[in-house]
Amino acid sequence: MRGKFVTFEGCEGSGKSTQLRLLGEYLASSGADFLMTREPGGSAIAEDIRRIILNGDYADMCPECEALLYAAARIQHLKEVVEPALAAGKLVVCDRYVDSSFAYQGYARGLGMEFVEKINSFALLKYPPDLTVFLDISPERAFERKHGADPNDRMEREGAEFHSKVYAGYRELIKIYPRICPVYCGGSKFETAENIKNLLKEKNIIK
Ligand code: TYD
Repeated sequence: MRGKFVTFEGCEGSGKSTQLRLLGEYLASSGADFLMTREPGGSAIAEDIRRIILNGDYADMCPECEALLYAAARIQHLKEVVEPALAAGKLVVCDRYVDSSFAYQGYARGLGMEFVEKINSFALLKYPPDLTVFLDISPERAFERKHGADPNDRMEREGAEFHSKVYAGYRELIKIYPRICPVYCGGSKFETAENIKNLLKEKNIIK
């Protein structure tokens, strides 16, 4: 049987990495056959594209180029990593996916939904996630928790206004795509982990 595809989304500092680590530990201890991967990246070619996208020296990269590079890394990762794992019946958990492109490039950079949809049609049509977990916390609170941004990361160093737009973008996406489920993550990391686990059970992703 084909595996399930679950993606995680959230603003910078939402605690996504911690939650993915905790979920990975839980899945491993429960003997699940799963693969944890990430975007942009997850394969040698896609990781190289990631280095170009996030390179702090490329301040004048235009939004269209940025969006196309994310989409290019995505297709490579889907074909090289995600597809074989799904075909082998694995649960694939991916740190960020197309909704990041909608929120960051479509909304925050102002490219619009249609442009992002068009350049990501391969991903959207062939690999729609079975579930998308949105770690829900306002960017203001997230940044407070994270103690500021990395100045060498082209996306992280964008200002507060940009990250508020990203959050607003995600809130809009929740209204459009029922597969996106928000999980409040302003409490303790263990509370959030428990809520995520319960959501995955409720949606029949795990037993
Ligand atoms: P990363 O260090 O993985 O950030 P995080 O830990 O917050 O996930 O860097 C990924 C960055 O790329 C992050 O700022 C979000 C951004 N991004 C987009 O703008 N569009 C996309 O399609 C994807 C996948 C990521």
